[in-house]
Amino acid sequence: MYKSRRKFLQHGAMILPAISMITSCSSQEEEKATTAPIVVSTWDSGLAVNKIAWEILKNKGKAIDAVEKGANSIENTINCCVGLGGNPDRDGHVTLDACIMDENYNCGSVAFLEKIKNPISVARKIMETTPHVMLVGEGAYQFAISNGFKSESDQLSADASKEYKKWLVKSEYKPVINIEKQQGKVNNHAAPAKLEDGSFNHDTMGLLALDTQLNLSGACTTSGMGFKMRGRVGDSPIIGGGLYVDNEIGAATSSGQGEEVIRICGTHLVVEYMRMGKSPHEACKLAIERLVKINPVKAKTFQVGFLALNKKGECGAYAVLPGFAYSVTKGDEGGQVFQSESYFKD
Ligand code: GLY
Repeated sequence: MYKSRRKFLQHGAMILPAISMITSCSSQEEEKATTAPIVVSTWDSGLAVNKIAWEILKNKGKAIDAVEKGANSIENTINCCVGLGGNPDRDGHVTLDACIMDENYNCGSVAFLEKIKNPISVARKIMETTPHVMLVGEGAYQFAISNGFKSESDQLSADASKEYKKWLVKSEYKPVINIEKQQGKVNNHAAPAKLEDGSFNHDTMGLLALDTQLNLSGACTTSGMGFKMRGRVGDSPIIGGGLYVDNEIGAATSSGQGEEVIRICGTHLVVEYMRMGKSPHEACKLAIERLVKINPVKAKTFQVGFLALNKKGECGAYAVLPGFAYSVTKGDEGGQVFQSESYFKD
């Protein structure tokens, strides 16, 4: 079934306890893992992703391999927001953004990539075989093809096609920009983030892992905001936006309205708060507060969630609005889904 992740959470709350435990996570209840390995990821769908990553981590594999394979697993499934099965842009094309970062500040990124199934692996290839960090569009595609990635059909998945047809009825794209921006009253908010039914039209998969060698790595992958302007790129492929890893301190990833995350260099900010001694939960909370402060009225209309993991294997999260969940796996018991605290309570 093809649902926005928020809808899935509402719907799935009844069935999830059978496979995992949903726990409210406050600063006191924050995960206090003292031993590696551990993998954390955004949303309840992260539980299945963590499972793939965990297979690598538990066998003393590297965090960078764990996050890549975990990200591949969701890129290979049909869902609204990650991989070629995701929702298209407003012209009907699926465009993918992803980035990856290892324990040595090596990073790779792709944006506006079409017809390639595993953008995270292309990002890793860029990281490992080129002097560059980021390739976009046609250049990224040609790089992928020349490195053995297969060109896939650009036909929409059945689910995405259905959603796109629904969207085309109104073709609503309402940038809340120019007049107020010109008057200097607000910052530029690129598109309506909240749909009529209260759900959000884009959710990103971000994963952070700490391996048995106590090395951190992260990955972030998405098809971006559904029905976005053609060429729009969000935070997910931006190092310091959708993902940042500092192996001395910790790592952070984000999900939600990318424009808002970019505005504050969100995940870099979270890691810097951890450098100042804040716990992962406190660091995410401070970054969200910074973001809300820019425009508290506007902030009620979009979702951003940060998830962080520090060098000790402690994790935490915080979001603008209720509904952001994250998955934590640190043992063979199958992991847990936690509900993040949020700035606004309803
Ligand atoms: N966070 C994903 C995006 O804004 O595209």
